[in-house]
Amino acid sequence: MTLINKVIKENNTSINPIWIMRQAGRYLPEFREIRKKNPDFINLCLNENLSSEITLQPLKRFNLDAAIIFSDILMLPYGLGQKVVFEKNFGPRLGELNLDKISQIDEIDFIEKVHRVYKALRKVSSDSILKDKNTIGFVGAPWTLLVYMINQQSPKKNLKEDFFKDEFLINRILLIIEKFLKIHIKNQIDNGANVIQIFDSWAGLLDEKDLPNYIYTPTLNLVNYVKSLNVPVICFPREIKNYKEFCDIVKPDAISIDYNANPKEIIKNIKIPVQGGLDPKILLTDKETLKKETMKYLEIFKDHPYIFNLGHGVLPETNPSMVEYLVKLVKEYK
Ligand code: CP3
Repeated sequence: MTLINKVIKENNTSINPIWIMRQAGRYLPEFREIRKKNPDFINLCLNENLSSEITLQPLKRFNLDAAIIFSDILMLPYGLGQKVVFEKNFGPRLGELNLDKISQIDEIDFIEKVHRVYKALRKVSSDSILKDKNTIGFVGAPWTLLVYMINQQSPKKNLKEDFFKDEFLINRILLIIEKFLKIHIKNQIDNGANVIQIFDSWAGLLDEKDLPNYIYTPTLNLVNYVKSLNVPVICFPREIKNYKEFCDIVKPDAISIDYNANPKEIIKNIKIPVQGGLDPKILLTDKETLKKETMKYLEIFKDHPYIFNLGHGVLPETNPSMVEYLVKLVKEYK
């Protein structure tokens, strides 16, 4: 059994598997080299030779316990025919959302647009470097995808005031998102993903009263779907105020926490396996600080099933030697 499965399925507390959100990405010179020659990010994700190579780059350098497929949560709106481009120094910019057009997309249209992600997964998961390690597939949570599809760009700190004005549109889009997320999850699993992570990067934007409608219900549906396929599911409802309530209602197999979550509170309240937490900015400091902060998480979670990870993606300005040191610290911890 893989180390991550031992933690998730057997509640093993004697091992410390590690993988890192955005482990394949801009902090690696070998990624930047490929990226330079491939200005269109979506096309890069859809080039299974390059995206599988990028996925494995961090595993060639560091003793990580999983690969996460090099793709993006915005492949979903792309597959639904909404325009998605990634602009340098701006981030994602999405085209107009047309409900009539999106309602006409069927499973075959969707798969035709994104099937090369599945080809990449097949290549990655059969690589010998992943023997006894996990291949992580992922999706954005319905709420976070709704935010991008309606807002057409990252919302930064707040939603526009009129975000909820067209409730009919929002509810229709949510159902469409949910339907195609299931299709996307199933195809990732069929092609070798053996863990699914659900990224809800904008969970923290909602008021408490809106959580059942936009987060709990749609995420619970997805979590139950992944469980029905016998694959472990990890949720990352970033900046949600009440992780305990989320876990009690949604019941993922493991919960990934952000760097503002207090690990001592988490350990008191949460019984399921925990992942992550360390602030990615710590990797921009020095080895001594990194060691101190890493040990903090390892000590707090030493008797709890725990997968080491960061509290959000690794930052582009990170020195790879700090990642190397982090992996070494975690692997040598006893
Ligand atoms: O290594 C991995 O983690 C796998 C690949 C991965 C990417 N995006 C590649 C990527 C994963 C899991 C994601 C998830 C993702 N994408 C999220 C959820 C996690 C989070 O960060 O909160 C979100 C919100 C997105 C949407 C997105 N994609 C944004 C906002 C941006 C621009 C900001 C940025 O970091 O550049 C992206 C682009 C993106 N996705 C890049 C990568 C490697 C950078 C592309 C580049 O080289 O310019």
